[in-house]
Amino acid sequence: MAQPTFRIAPSILSANFAKLGEEVQAVIAAGADIIHFDVMDNHYVPNLTIGPVVCEAIRPCTDALIDVHLMVKPVDAIIPMFAKAGANIITFHPEASEHIDRSLGLIKEHGCKAGLVFNPAAPLSYLDYVMDKVDMILLMSVNPGFGGQKFIPATLDKLREARRRIDEYTAKTGKEIWLEIDGGVKVDNIAEIARAGADTFVAGSAIYNTPDYKATIDAMRDELAKV
Ligand code: DX5
Ligand code: ZN
Repeated sequence: MAQPTFRIAPSILSANFAKLGEEVQAVIAAGADIIHFDVMDNHYVPNLTIGPVVCEAIRPCTDALIDVHLMVKPVDAIIPMFAKAGANIITFHPEASEHIDRSLGLIKEHGCKAGLVFNPAAPLSYLDYVMDKVDMILLMSVNPGFGGQKFIPATLDKLREARRRIDEYTAKTGKEIWLEIDGGVKVDNIAEIARAGADTFVAGSAIYNTPDYKATIDAMRDELAKV
């Protein structure tokens, strides 16, 4: 069987914000694929982070995809702002939108890839009627709001179920959908997570809280090569 494509997406939530542009360039130079951009509003989640102006500021620093994870409620007004700020992928939590199908459509109308994010206890049934509009499914393996939390093991079964849904849909339609995991991903559990079906791995503290980003990303790739 061909080796699946695995993508590593450092979360800049754990970067040094005093030198964010350099931090973005450093992880890409160290072999990461995607920049994961966590947007929190102190309403949908109990923390407050960064908005479209910061996305716009880092956009010229890299050609890598910027993956905007919205932890805000509501979502529709902020979607065009992030699209204009250079986001490539925009994901949101279905509970944070009154009209999920419309919000997905809005992301795509603005030229971005769209995705839904599932909290640890959120059911995958939100996907039932929107698979055609979804380019990415993001499973949270921690409760959203903070970096550095512990991976919730029940997410492994949920990943297997999401993988089954994606494979079935892709076999039927040919459409590619990425399966991303976010929260508590480390060198020592990334292989197990990949075996459960993830292909895109967000890692914040596991990369940015280490002194040598390249050594950490290489170690993650070595683990992924065993899958
Ligand atoms: C949590 C964020 C994550 C966070 C992950 O709400 O969505 O992207 O930065 O951090 P780690 O990898 O440290 O668990
Ligand atoms: Zn995130």
